[in-house]
Amino acid sequence: MSNVYSAIKVSDHVYWVGAIDWTIRDFHGYTTPHGSTYNAYLVMADEITLIDTVKAPFKEEMIARIKSVIDLSQIKYIISNHSEMDHSGCLPEVIDIIKPKKVFASAVGVKTLQELFHDQHEIIPVKDGEILSLGNMDLTFMETRMIHWPDSMFTYLAKDQLLFSQDAFGMHLATLERFDDEIPAATLEYEAATYYANIVLPYSPVVLKALEKVTKAGWKIKFIAPDHGPVWRKDISGIISLYQKWAGQKPTAKAVVVYATMWHSTEKMASVIAESIAQEGIKVKLMSMNEVHRSEVVYEVLNAGALIVGSSTLNNNILPQMADVMIYLKGLKPTNLIGAAFGSYGWSGESVRDLEQILKDMKVEIVAPSVSVKHVPDNSVLEKCHEFGKVIAAELKKRLAT
Ligand code: FEO
Repeated sequence: MSNVYSAIKVSDHVYWVGAIDWTIRDFHGYTTPHGSTYNAYLVMADEITLIDTVKAPFKEEMIARIKSVIDLSQIKYIISNHSEMDHSGCLPEVIDIIKPKKVFASAVGVKTLQELFHDQHEIIPVKDGEILSLGNMDLTFMETRMIHWPDSMFTYLAKDQLLFSQDAFGMHLATLERFDDEIPAATLEYEAATYYANIVLPYSPVVLKALEKVTKAGWKIKFIAPDHGPVWRKDISGIISLYQKWAGQKPTAKAVVVYATMWHSTEKMASVIAESIAQEGIKVKLMSMNEVHRSEVVYEVLNAGALIVGSSTLNNNILPQMADVMIYLKGLKPTNLIGAAFGSYGWSGESVRDLEQILKDMKVEIVAPSVSVKHVPDNSVLEKCHEFGKVIAAELKKRLAT
């Protein structure tokens, strides 16, 4: 394999030596229709250092890329910025093959790697702010706990003004292009936002603190090298501003109406509610869980101000497609949302009650009494749905005005 794959030069002293996963379509519930990359990087210092590794099945691809520039025995240090298996799956084997002088991770990373692999490899803990000399240049470590695991950390290479940011600023996008300026801006923003919504969103308060910490550290950044997707070298301030915006979770004049339907009654209601909200000048995204994936819903919710949810009642419960997206959304903890529930039923009507309870558990402010109908909505019920939409639009406008 050694002549098949090549390393790609990122900066004066750094090469990308990761792997491209063209076929992955699911990342623990997050759909990845465009695949992903697992990024590893070589720092060509006096003490050559490998930053992160790749998912276990991609070990040979990473090793081949490394061998395209150096012999494996020249690697003296390995740094694990994040223990999740897409970056550490082959780490024990790689340590055995390379036999570096030292392997480093955050203190929590050391424990996590031990709990993952239960082996005898020595991994040395580094502290927040600690500097590691590589001879002719230094690496500085910064703990970024809960972005998005407790072990996570950034590593900064001042010599090249390059931040190794592990999952932060990443995206699931398989491409042969390695840099942001080689990919259309709209693709970058969509993929980065989808990644943020599906992976980073619950940790938004920590993201804001980490961005402050980076600013306080005075690090000049010409490159951000994440563990997935392209390296940022053209629009560093743009992606940092987007992270500030997404983490800030400020509501906008946008409502997401999400529903699942059995015999189209809930669907008819959803359509009228969406129409009514739009008539009030609010942007609406109407999403049927019979058709769309949960990952697309959380992408839309990322910049919304209202979340309106509907379901038919099935065996005294909400439909399973709605249970799926509601549990997913609840875990991702979007904030600053108003909302309400609607639905239909045949002989009992638990769906609206259960949906409202999940919204309350998510700390979504319920701003309109729920609307429900037995069997098929007639005109009077559809008029109620229209009024329901107007109330939600008015409440959203009130919140946006304050
Ligand atoms: Fe890409 Fe949290 O692993």
